[in-house]
Amino acid sequence: MRIYIDTANIADIERIITKFPVDGVTTNPSLLAREKINPMEQLKKIRNLLDEDMELHAQVLSDNASDMIAEADYMRKHLGEQTFIKIPVTHEGIRAMKELNKTGVNMTATAIYTPMQAVMAAKAGAKWTAPYVNRLDMIGANGVQVAIDIHTILTRMKEKTDLLAASFKNVEQILKLAEAGVGAVTVAPELLEQLLYHPLTNQAVIDFKNDFESITAKGATMKDL
Ligand code: G3P
Repeated sequence: MRIYIDTANIADIERIITKFPVDGVTTNPSLLAREKINPMEQLKKIRNLLDEDMELHAQVLSDNASDMIAEADYMRKHLGEQTFIKIPVTHEGIRAMKELNKTGVNMTATAIYTPMQAVMAAKAGAKWTAPYVNRLDMIGANGVQVAIDIHTILTRMKEKTDLLAASFKNVEQILKLAEAGVGAVTVAPELLEQLLYHPLTNQAVIDFKNDFESITAKGATMKDL
C-alpha cells in the first residue's frame, strides 16, 4: 500500500519524509489556503523537497472542462509532467479527464463519495480515485466500506485505476483499508505519526536500555563494547 502525506505544509513534509517511507504528497485547495502564501509557489517548493519518484498531487479549480484542461497543462508546465492533476468527479471533471487521458496525463479523481463515481473516473482514465472516508462517516455512511467496495469493483473491472483513499481521522480506518489491499492512502501528518504509536513499544525500549546498562554503563550502546 502506498502512503502519501495529505498536507501543503513544508515543515510537516520535511519532518515526515526524513523519517517515514512515504510515496508522495497530496494537496487540495483548502490545505494550500492554510499556508497563506501563493499556492503555486508553495507547490513548487513541495516539488523541490520530493525525490523524483515521489508523486505530487495538486487540484484544478476551473469549473468547465476546457478550462480544467488548460489549467492542467499550466500546472504540468510549472510543476513537472509527472504531477498528478486532481479533478473532481463532476460532469465537467469527467469530461476533462476523458480528454486529458488521450495525452497520458496523470490524474487523480477526487471528491468521491460513491463507488459509481469511481467507476466513471476509472473509465475516463484516472490513475487514482480518492474517496473521502471520514467525510462519509460524518454523514452517517460507512466510509471504509465505500472505499473497499470501490477497490473491489475496480479490481474486478481490471482497470489500471486504484484507490487513493483520503480523509482519515483514525488509525483503524487506515488499517481496515490495508487489510483490504487498497493501492494507497493519503494521511494528515499528525495521524501519520500516530500509525506507529503503542505505549508498550516505548516501554519495551526503556526496559531493554535499562537491562543493557545494568551490565555496561549509562548510555552505553554496542559501539562502546
Ligand atoms: O483532499 C481531500 C482530503 O484531504 C480531505 O481530508 O480531513 O479534510 O476530510 P479531510
